[in-house]
Amino acid sequence: MAEDLYISNGTKEERYAALLPQLEALLEGEDDLVACLANVAAALHDTFGFFWVGFYRIAGDELVLGPFQGPVACTRIRRGRGVCGTAWQEERTLIVPDVNEFPGHIACSSLSRSEIVVPVTDAQGQLWGVLDVDSRELNTFDNVDADGLARVCQMLRHKLNA
Ligand code: SME
Repeated sequence: MAEDLYISNGTKEERYAALLPQLEALLEGEDDLVACLANVAAALHDTFGFFWVGFYRIAGDELVLGPFQGPVACTRIRRGRGVCGTAWQEERTLIVPDVNEFPGHIACSSLSRSEIVVPVTDAQGQLWGVLDVDSRELNTFDNVDADGLARVCQMLRHKLNA
């Protein structure tokens, strides 16, 4: 199944366009949140070769690590801290072309050089957590990623309260 999701060529736009309907099919009929988040992280990681892809969910005044693909990561991030905690606080997508230039960036790995964090909202419009994607290269992420990843997060909305 995972092999079928891997799209190794084409532009970034083409990869998102091919991946989104496949993810929709993968998530259809499955309400287990951990299973859905785990497969989404794996599909994004394999399709784009990102260094790290994963979810953090809001628990009190912290983000707590959820399903991910990539190296071991920080378990808890306080609101307003790092890129993830700032995206949560500001309730908006943050694109960081160079993590060393982001004040307060939390370096889970020195190999991560650019990053995008997208807020994840439930079906009632409540913020649930964030999707964090890291790259080994500088300047990896742009509005195509922001849009594609926001669509992925939207697909998860109805699973979040299940
Ligand atoms: N760099 C993130 C922390 C999470 S890890 O990169 C997986 C941040 O600054 O919020």
